[in-house]
Amino acid sequence: MPHEKVYPVPPEIAARAHIDAEGYRTLYARSLQEPEAFWAEQAQRFITWERRWERVCDWDFQRAHIRWFEGGRLNACVNCLDRHLDSRGDQTALIWESDNPAVSQRFTYRELHAQVCRLANVLKNQGIGKGDRVCIYLPMIPEAAVAMLACARIGAIHSVVFGGFSAEALRDRILDADCRLLITADEGLRGGKHVPLKANADQALRECPGVRSVLVVRRSGGKIGWTEGRDVWYHEAVAAAAEDCPPESMEAEDPLFILYTSGSTGKPKGVVHTTGGYMVYAAMTHRYVFDYHDGEIYWCTADVGWVTGHTYLVYGPLANGGITLMFEGVPTWPEPDRFWQVVDKHQVNIFYTAPTAIRALMRLGDDYVKRTSRRSLRILGSVGEPINPEAWEWYYHVVGEGRCPIVDTWWQTETGGHMITPLPGATPLKPGSAAWPFFGVEAVILDDKGKEIEGPGEGVLAIKRSWPAQARTLYGNHQRFLETYFKLYPGYYFTGDGARRDEDGYFWITGRVDDVLNVSGHRLGTAEIESALVEHPAVAEAAVVGFPHDVKGQGIYAYVILKEGVQPGEELKRELSEQVSRDIGPIAKPDVIQFARDLPKTRSGKIMRRILRKIAAGQIDDLGDTSTLADPGVVEELIRNRIQAG
Ligand code: PRX
Repeated sequence: MPHEKVYPVPPEIAARAHIDAEGYRTLYARSLQEPEAFWAEQAQRFITWERRWERVCDWDFQRAHIRWFEGGRLNACVNCLDRHLDSRGDQTALIWESDNPAVSQRFTYRELHAQVCRLANVLKNQGIGKGDRVCIYLPMIPEAAVAMLACARIGAIHSVVFGGFSAEALRDRILDADCRLLITADEGLRGGKHVPLKANADQALRECPGVRSVLVVRRSGGKIGWTEGRDVWYHEAVAAAAEDCPPESMEAEDPLFILYTSGSTGKPKGVVHTTGGYMVYAAMTHRYVFDYHDGEIYWCTADVGWVTGHTYLVYGPLANGGITLMFEGVPTWPEPDRFWQVVDKHQVNIFYTAPTAIRALMRLGDDYVKRTSRRSLRILGSVGEPINPEAWEWYYHVVGEGRCPIVDTWWQTETGGHMITPLPGATPLKPGSAAWPFFGVEAVILDDKGKEIEGPGEGVLAIKRSWPAQARTLYGNHQRFLETYFKLYPGYYFTGDGARRDEDGYFWITGRVDDVLNVSGHRLGTAEIESALVEHPAVAEAAVVGFPHDVKGQGIYAYVILKEGVQPGEELKRELSEQVSRDIGPIAKPDVIQFARDLPKTRSGKIMRRILRKIAAGQIDDLGDTSTLADPGVVEELIRNRIQAG
């Protein structure tokens, strides 16, 4: 049963909030009734344009044709840096907290601007220009933000690949986007451990002839391979480059970045975001959802390799002239109080993290939290997966001491920014609910026939009209974009999530309804993990499903059918795990591998995943309809040999 507790808006939060309850109601109504006027105002307020747009929006979900602010011209980097120089050039823009608790660094807007201009000139000297794709494979170091902004400055399209991905995953992403240049580091440092980024990059690049140069940031000083004529030390190149770099004038619909994310089938999809609409939405949501006020210290713990790191670590806060904190390390190192130590050290006011981190820390007890002050905290945020009410309550009462509203923000790589979320000064909170749609977002729940459910009810979550930060296409594959998001429910953007709406209009996200897993907030396609498993010579077939996991949210359960004559065993399990780690990255390693003789299939040969999910979750008394099974004996055997998970 849902949690029925409601936490009202604290009066001291409401008193200074940008948006209060009444403000939300009137602005939301207006955003749907007069969308063009509404969005024109926001575009004017939040972004500096070189030239005003001719048309606010032009979209048609039947064709997946989406355009915002066409005719307008702007530069994302100018909006994040240059335009703040006069008013706050000497204010901190970025605080970097390194893996080592003794080391942190601050960059003013002026300093960040200088770094970005120099790197932009380095990119130009390397032959990179407008529209070229640049791959960024970096740890959480300031150079990651600098690299993104330098690309934006010269109109190059960045494709950031999470540093936890393997050489093979990096190679696939570089090839798909046909990247020309790679920016990486010798090694990453996380929790005192070294991550061999350059070695991975070297391996990936053996099969990427299109990449002509590699800029290498020296982070650890560890020993690395070097390819003369291709590899360039980042610090040397930047030191030699000029500091003056005029920004490229961009069309509102020119691509800003590509970001790969997993789908239910096939290879990861290169989600494309463009410049104007994305920037308007990033700045506006950052301002209103976190109720950001000038001078506040804002910390988003997400890695730059994910969309949260794009919109809410770099573009949103910097567009607003804010102070953004970037953390290189992990929450539990050197001790499990690291988050709260950093909060105290830098006097963080707004803290945005993922439920998996909250659950992991909650398990370790309250003492690590209570030995820190956290008085500076004002607003807390959650993102990436549903937050269970127990974790929510702990976050609220123990971390926030009942003072700080939690904004549980539902959104996706494809949505570019927050879609359903409380606003701190406007929304009474229900633990576990993402609450109400953001301005301009018309969220609906569809039943199994694709009809809208009015009022309370449960079904799939879809969005009925476009919003400025909506993804425009999948890189090089508009047909796949159309089919994935707009075909199943014509006239809607299909999110892939299930949701319930209660009698107060609050949305409760129930999780993915497709074959996408959410493991510790990381989105993984079951198909990708399966294809990694069947690459092993011993494997004939594999089926991967999720199961409820206390810390990760979902764990990975793999059913593996071996080829004739192959002996199952623990050693083989280890090899299979390694295979997945090599193909995708350590985050995709199965929690459980069960060897099986066969998989439950319908008479037409389709795998019955519903049954595999039930067995993995241990719900064996509740398998549902099994009458279409080709061979019921298969299910009995799977149940007999099932492995206790979770
Ligand atoms: O299932 C939803 C879940 O994460 C998916 C999007 O993953 P990704 O594109 O990697 O972006 C993650 C960061 C925005 C969604 O389809 N999800 C994200 N936020 C929430 C959530 N589920 C429930 N509550 C949330 N707040």
